[in-house]
Amino acid sequence: MKEKNTENLMDKLISLCKRRGFIFPSSEIYGGIANGWDYGPLGAELKNNIKRAWWKRFVHGRDDMVGIDAALIMNPKIWEASGHLSHFTDPLVDCKKCKNRFRADEITPPTPPFVRGGKKDDFLERGRGGVCPNCGGELTQSRQFNMMLKTFLGPLEDESAVVYFRPETAQAMFVDFKQVLQTTRKKLPFGIAQAGKAFRNEITPGNFIFRTREFEQMEIEYFVKEKDWKKNFEMWLEEMKQWCKFLGLKDDELYFHEIADNERAHYSKRTIDIEYKYPFGQKELYGLAYRTDYDLQNHMKASGADLNYEDPATKEKFVPHVIEPTWGVDRSVLVTLLSAYHEEEAPTSEKGESETRVVLKIPKALVPIQVAVLPLSKKEELSNIAKNIAKDLREQFVVEYDETQSIGRRYRRQDEIGTPYCVTVDFDSLNDLAVTVRDRDTMKQERVQIAGLPEYFNKAF
Ligand code: GAP
Repeated sequence: MKEKNTENLMDKLISLCKRRGFIFPSSEIYGGIANGWDYGPLGAELKNNIKRAWWKRFVHGRDDMVGIDAALIMNPKIWEASGHLSHFTDPLVDCKKCKNRFRADEITPPTPPFVRGGKKDDFLERGRGGVCPNCGGELTQSRQFNMMLKTFLGPLEDESAVVYFRPETAQAMFVDFKQVLQTTRKKLPFGIAQAGKAFRNEITPGNFIFRTREFEQMEIEYFVKEKDWKKNFEMWLEEMKQWCKFLGLKDDELYFHEIADNERAHYSKRTIDIEYKYPFGQKELYGLAYRTDYDLQNHMKASGADLNYEDPATKEKFVPHVIEPTWGVDRSVLVTLLSAYHEEEAPTSEKGESETRVVLKIPKALVPIQVAVLPLSKKEELSNIAKNIAKDLREQFVVEYDETQSIGRRYRRQDEIGTPYCVTVDFDSLNDLAVTVRDRDTMKQERVQIAGLPEYFNKAF
């Protein structure tokens, strides 16, 4: 099989996602909603598999971790204490001509004054001007735009009812720290994990599900003694590298970007962004930050609660420091799909004829459908056997039964959605009580006894 290059990869992937039901535009029958996307049946499976695998690996798989599931809307005082109401900003510029709005740091050259996270950047000193990427018009000076998504809680719509959708899952792990500590009796170092929705009023959402205003995160706040932060930072960096491998990402698709002092978020003393080489450029996939004791200290001051940890051996009391590995769920889905997308020249006959097949080589542990059961014909004698096979396999695997179209087209469809195995029931099955199992990646076929299928797939997955 010869691999073909994949030009216009984003367009092809977006089209495949819509056509096959991974991801489609949200609210489409009403004209959509700015960069909103819905996960269809296959996308929901893939996304849930990623979240489940993450939870299994980092919560169930470790003795030093517990998980929580906190409210999306929390007391607004949390966002004051965390610094989000004052610092969670992006620099915004308007085009004076076409009125479009942009993030100043995404315009080349940046428009002055360029300020990020409340810190001045040296572009300000250099004073370089920017023009509108849309129409070439003159841009306004940049100003800080807060990305917190506001709403009102309860029947009153005045200042007293203002609340915010959480912009990160992280803060719940800090404000619930004491309760988790008391109920689980964990000892340092230990971590609290959470996966769930976050909301940001992004200036420029875009690039499919790369940047949206509603998205999901999987985050860990890992509490350590201050003197131990470096080794725990390294430990989580390695864990994140292993996770990237698990998603099927290759080393040359990734870049580990040490964030400079004046570029880091307001709470961080060291940050490494794990970047991916997307078709639209090398950009952030995940992040790893040393948040020091910034958050616990601030919540202690603002709430009056005692968030100290008492060392059981020495009885010493102190505020733990925090290493935060953070993963975007939607970006995990995007890079898994991008990395899995292959176009191959596949033979269709022994005379050397071939055709291009599109195949998603999603890691087996994450595929939406594990086994497709395909009777060669709709005739009852075959479909009855096939339906029984599907029913049996469904007890352990995610199975799709499909009897429509030619077998070739059904294989192509399963390749395109990443199904690792197709089970074909043919007329020989009536006699030898066996079926053909086709492998997605090699396209090799082998004959397997029907009674042996559960064992066969248990070994395969
Ligand atoms: N608690 C730290 C934090 O939230 P972040 O770098 O702002 O750090 C963490 O976000 C991760 O969340 C990012 O690495 C990315 O994967 C994902 N993410 C952030 N903003 C996003 C957006 N607008 N759309 C999709 N994913 C986003």
